[in-house]
Amino acid sequence: MERPIFLVGFMGSGKTTWGKKLANAMGLPFLDLDHEIVKHIGMSIPEYFALHGEDRFRTVEREIMQQQLGKTGVISTGGGTPCYFDNMDWLLEHGTVLYLKHSPKSLWNRLSNSDVNKRPGLKGMTGDDLLAFIETKLAERAPFYERSSIIVDQINTPLEELVNLLK
Ligand code: S3P
Repeated sequence: MERPIFLVGFMGSGKTTWGKKLANAMGLPFLDLDHEIVKHIGMSIPEYFALHGEDRFRTVEREIMQQQLGKTGVISTGGGTPCYFDNMDWLLEHGTVLYLKHSPKSLWNRLSNSDVNKRPGLKGMTGDDLLAFIETKLAERAPFYERSSIIVDQINTPLEELVNLLK
């Protein structure tokens, strides 16, 4: 069976949107890890963070990630998934890991136009505060993302090119 393609990248990098497009173009199933977590915990991720804290969330996230063992298709992960425990080793061991790379400014543009309250880490931040947060957090997380099997500049890579890279 084909190994799955795991999409990784910062919040707002388009993992879910592109994951769906990619799966569609390749005729593969699509699965969203955050969505699977929400089904499992029975509440939204911000609610879970508020009730149980981030450490518990990361433990559940890891469990749900490992439950995907043996699945095929395109699987989008959460922005923090590869950056905790040895999750990145696990992802690389079990699939092809694709990093949708953006600059902090590009992420800022995209996140400024999204509902920041849906993302617990962003806590309603806007403007310069949001940019500073992205710069700091991306610097922490980039070393994990950069270990991916394939790294693409998401803005300038047409979908067809991505499909070819993954064939
Ligand atoms: C998180 C990103 C979210 C979600 C959770 C934590 C993060 O996923 O897993 O809110 O720490 O970056 P998206 O990257 O899909 O927003």
